Amino acid sequence: PAARPLAGKRAIVTSGPTHEPIDPVRYIANRSSGKQGHAIAAALAAAGAEVTLVTGPTREPDPAGVTVKHIETAREMLAGVEAALPADIAVFAAAVADWRVAEEAGQKLKKDGSGQIPSLSMTENPDILKTVSGLGGTRPSLVVGFAAETEMVVAHATEKRARKGCDWILANDVSPATGTFGGEANTIHLITGAGSEDWPKLTKKEVAEKLATRIVEHFSA
Ligand code: PMT
Repeated sequence: PAARPLAGKRAIVTSGPTHEPIDPVRYIANRSSGKQGHAIAAALAAAGAEVTLVTGPTREPDPAGVTVKHIETAREMLAGVEAALPADIAVFAAAVADWRVAEEAGQKLKKDGSGQIPSLSMTENPDILKTVSGLGGTRPSLVVGFAAETEMVVAHATEKRARKGCDWILANDVSPATGTFGGEANTIHLITGAGSEDWPKLTKKEVAEKLATRIVEHFSA
């Protein structure tokens, strides 16, 4: 096989959490470390693809040989992905906040001594995976989502693949005991139009390399 089998292919990868502001100093986020998404960007670049990584705030270093766009919110992530189109491959590993605070306060919310507790009203964020899966002419030919589940992992992920309109889903169990969020390892169920396939527990780097291999096979089939 060619040393750089994805040469000439463009890929977009999302990674990390999003931060959704409450006021100028507070935000809502989640425990995604960016390890899985960054490893996928690196593996696709190593296979020769021209990769744009759109990432929320993480401690992971920018992978070498990858164009990295740093964003904070889901809306910024969508804009970063759209600006990186067209692409042949898109992999959505980010843990995007489904909701954001409806009206970000312009000034820091104050504890004013009256005992009044603020309540936050939420609104829906754009679904980046669903938006890109539903594009017309600029839809990447291979759109890969993740499904973070805590129960009935394959059933829920199969339903998610249909609802979001992507080609493949990598389902992972994110129950606290698994350590998937933030940890070094991941156990994947790959769901495609042909059914589901269980991968053994692997390091996130191995998951990324296995996915890159599957993507190479897809384009050479
Ligand atoms: O970052 P790590 O610590 O390494 O952890 C890796 C991970 C657990 C975050 C990763 O493997 C993973 O599962 N990422 C997806 C997390 C998630 O938000 O899953 P979901 O089932 O809620 O979303 C389904 C898919 O839609 C995902 O591809 C997600 O990126 C995408 N999505 C979700 C909401 C939204 N508004 N826009 C999206 O694009």
